[in-house]
Amino acid sequence: MTSTILILNGPNLNLLGSREPEIYGTETLDEIKGRVETQATELKLKADFRQSNSEVELVEWIQAAKGSISGIILNAAAFTHSSIAIADAIEAVGLPMIEVHISNVFRREEFRHHSHLSRVAHGVITGFGGNGYVFALEAMASILAEKG
Ligand code: DQA
Repeated sequence: MTSTILILNGPNLNLLGSREPEIYGTETLDEIKGRVETQATELKLKADFRQSNSEVELVEWIQAAKGSISGIILNAAAFTHSSIAIADAIEAVGLPMIEVHISNVFRREEFRHHSHLSRVAHGVITGFGGNGYVFALEAMASILAEKG
């Protein structure tokens, strides 16, 4: 059976393309979604790509992933720096999670240097624009292959 990877995007990432292009580039979230889906097909995976501005909805999607999803790729955007609830949800479902950021958060304001999610992540990819999602999918494929 084909493994499904849940790719979750947090607040304001729906604005990619027009939002601070000097930081986030000009690629839209839909364009990233298209690239991720193509890459998923090549890796014989299924990508379930979503965005929400709501912390509650993100927590609910993570909780619902148990049983049907093999791994989570998560760009929680600003919730990265504030949400213990999202970290707890990831820990609760026990699925491998890769944290992604479009910008290099360590080159930015101090408050972006701390993530509540890194502690529960398999790894973190930050600063490679939309490519980071494609890299994360490749990394997830090898994590799942190792798990067997
Ligand atoms: C972000 C970085 C966060 O600090 C910020 O709040 C975002 C996007 C990124 O992808 O670079 O909204 O997660």
